[in-house]
Amino acid sequence: MKNLTVITHPLIRRDVTILRDKKTTNAEFRTTLSRIAGMMAFQVTKDFALSSFQVSTPMATTKGFKLKESIVVVPVLRAGLGMVEGFLDVLPEARVGHVGLYRDETTLRPVDYYSKFPRQLSKSLVILIDPMLATGGSAAAALTFLKQKGAKNIRVVCLVAAPEGVRVVTKQHPEVPIFCACLDRSLNARGYIIPGLGDAGDRIFGTEKL
Ligand code: PRP
Ligand code: URA
Repeated sequence: MKNLTVITHPLIRRDVTILRDKKTTNAEFRTTLSRIAGMMAFQVTKDFALSSFQVSTPMATTKGFKLKESIVVVPVLRAGLGMVEGFLDVLPEARVGHVGLYRDETTLRPVDYYSKFPRQLSKSLVILIDPMLATGGSAAAALTFLKQKGAKNIRVVCLVAAPEGVRVVTKQHPEVPIFCACLDRSLNARGYIIPGLGDAGDRIFGTEKL
């Protein structure tokens, strides 16, 4: 899985455990997911180019830096919304696009219902975020969509990935790097990641059926 980077920082591993725990409340789930997203952003952005300029401190003038590329963060609705704030905490200059997709529970195929992107996607570095990469159908469809809108430089960031999903995305989009916090064992018959953390959207928004 050469496109995949698993980020194994101890603080991220601790937080993934909190998200996995079925006793974690919706409120704690949201806070923890946002915190992990911010920590993952450090690793995902570590090769970003900088441009330099002169900055004046109250004492003297010195060399300062800013990000060279325009950054667009694109959450896959709904669950990707849970990672937006964490990313924007460390990338406040980023603009945000949205892709609305849900997985049909019978076919497991993604169904799109909304999209809105900032201008000049083709000149931006796009970070597609969604906590779950299960069959890979949603991420692959979102990537195809982004490319149709002109995006050329895209990275995918998820929290929990299944090997099946990584393979599907890599086959359809071989140039796209994928970052995750853990690579889990497998999928069950309903397309849920095992051990996973359940339905991420439901746990963020409190819409569990139980
Ligand atoms: C979840 C998740 C991904 C998708 C992953 O969304 O947030 O978008 O499933 O599954 P896949 O890799 O098999 O496509 P879901 O369809 O449950 O929608 P929601 O975010 O609105 O709950
Ligand atoms: N979507 C989720 O939210 N969880 C899974 O395990 C699979 C898809």
